[in-house]
Amino acid sequence: MNHSVNESDIRQWLQEVQHPAKGDQNVVQLGMVEAVELAPGRIHVTLGFPKRPDPLKNYLIGAVQACLYRHAPGGTEIEVDTVVKEPAKAAPKGIQFNLDQLREVRNIIGIASGKGGVGKSTVAVNLAVALARLGYRVGLADADVYGPSVPTMTGTEGVEIEMYGEDEHDTLFVPVQKYGVKWLSVGHVSQAGQALIWRGPMASTALKQIILQTQWGPLDFLLIDMPPGTGDIHISLIGDVPLTGAVIVTTPQAVALADVFRGVNMFRNPQVNKPIYGLVENMAWFTPEAHPDEQYYLFGRDGGRQMAAQLDIPFLGQIPLVQGIREGGDNGEPVALGSRPDSQAFLEIARKLAESV
Ligand SMILES: Nc1ncnc2c1ncn2[C@@H]1O[C@H](COP(=O)(O)OP(=O)(O)OP(=O)(O)O)[C@@H](O)[C@H]1O
Ligand SMILES: [Mg+2]
Repeated sequence: MNHSVNESDIRQWLQEVQHPAKGDQNVVQLGMVEAVELAPGRIHVTLGFPKRPDPLKNYLIGAVQACLYRHAPGGTEIEVDTVVKEPAKAAPKGIQFNLDQLREVRNIIGIASGKGGVGKSTVAVNLAVALARLGYRVGLADADVYGPSVPTMTGTEGVEIEMYGEDEHDTLFVPVQKYGVKWLSVGHVSQAGQALIWRGPMASTALKQIILQTQWGPLDFLLIDMPPGTGDIHISLIGDVPLTGAVIVTTPQAVALADVFRGVNMFRNPQVNKPIYGLVENMAWFTPEAHPDEQYYLFGRDGGRQMAAQLDIPFLGQIPLVQGIREGGDNGEPVALGSRPDSQAFLEIARKLAESV
């Protein structure tokens, strides 16, 4: 037979044979071509089928034969036979995570709150910026898979994330660097505009990827903006990420404080047993931009401070409710970058946190 025909030619030809029940995939892609043997004037192909009878087996044998006849030099003898293929051992479910990327991270701090909307992300982003201003090496992982807000708050939405790896098992993300901080959010890695409607296992996989499959490099602090609440996703995260401790954010309001108990218990229960480095009271009072000397205690006074004392948690400080903080979040320019009084408040909290750790 013509000596220029070799096994890779044959595999190439066989890519024309599609499995009608498997979309557009061909027998080569599907790994069904078990063996190709060549002898002068003869081609022998062995197709592998799963144990379960495939109703299309005879069709596929015929299609492979026809394909080979079409391509092979005239007079070549074509043989196609089959073997039962044992299913490959199912790959372990989910990604096998390891902690390699956290090797050089000294402190991993979860920023949590029992209740949503208390300004956890605002505090996390500004704390990250403030810690960087104090000279620490800082990263922030936005683990809020349902409502990632870090891209907006840092003006990094739409930034294309560099990533390495062949598949989800060895994916490695490169965080976005801005304001002296390394940021990575579920929002950065999910396609822009794609609705975040992940459920249970998928959501916790996504957030573990953000933390464990990211090239953080050497850091003094890796802050983790946790999703609101104290649900399964938190338990899964706390189980797989070696947090060194947590910071709790609350407003002075009594209902928010009830949630603080739950947030604190999540870290203090004996199975988790992580230190709480401190409590931040956000929206401690309202100060109008036009009247910077006035303070209105909209949500009660010192609720957070009292709660910290009651729970024996270091009190890190109070952040006022001011228009500038909200605008900074919306514009992607955290106030902690500036020199306003509230910028100073974040710097002070960052200093205390670094001490507490
Ligand atoms: N101290 C503050 N002064 C003014 N606005 C604030 C302050 N803290 C938070 N905000 C605003 O309140 C809104 C909610 O804050 P943020 O997103 O940080 O809360 P969150 O606790 O992370 O919410 P979620 O539970 O949805 O993750 C944002 O628009 C933010 O800009
Ligand atoms: Mg948030």
